[in-house]
Amino acid sequence: MPTKATKRTARVKPGQRAEETLRVLISHQRIRERVRHMAQEIRRDFPNEPVHLVGVLKGSVLFLADLARELGGEVSFDFISVSSYGKGMDSTGEVKMNKDLDVSIEGRSVLVVEDILDTGLTLKYLLRLFEERKPKHLRVAVLLDKAERRIADVKADYTGFVIPNEFVVGYGLDYDERYRNLPDVCVVRLGPRGKTKIEA
Ligand code: IMP
Repeated sequence: MPTKATKRTARVKPGQRAEETLRVLISHQRIRERVRHMAQEIRRDFPNEPVHLVGVLKGSVLFLADLARELGGEVSFDFISVSSYGKGMDSTGEVKMNKDLDVSIEGRSVLVVEDILDTGLTLKYLLRLFEERKPKHLRVAVLLDKAERRIADVKADYTGFVIPNEFVVGYGLDYDERYRNLPDVCVVRLGPRGKTKIEA
């Protein structure tokens, strides 16, 4: 569902630099409610089967932890780490694997858990990789979707929030490895004129 920024400005946050301003986009309470509903949707689709969550490090960690607890039933999880390359914020689509999964996904009902879908190039790479490994089902859950930035032809099966083209942090998402521990998702802006990172 589309979401708009609230007017609420976050107080100074742990790790915040003087040149950075943060604005709450999605409060933790809204995230909690949405994650609960997403878990219900997923369980409706997989009522009686074990669901194997595959988290994409590191941004998905908090989302995966909350989703796993809301899902109930038999749940297992594993993690993969990839990095994408590009100039500034623009990905070239070149993705490098840093850490592969620990266990096979063959024959399992796999749910890829991503923090944010931006260009979609990372997810495209992951889906191609996982499809070759013959899971029984392969679905995708993303907390945030910057739909207008999409380059690759990929879609999530379960989406938390569609957000505008702004650089966001919190609830697992970072700027320079900071802010992952914020409970809310916030828009971060840089510089005296409030130029956002994504436009730089
Ligand atoms: P994509 O391949 O362009 O879809 O990029 C996905 C990855 O880029 C995400 O998993 C994030 O790690 C990162 N990313 C994209 N947008 C943001 C953002 O607004 N804040 C933090 N990380 C982001």
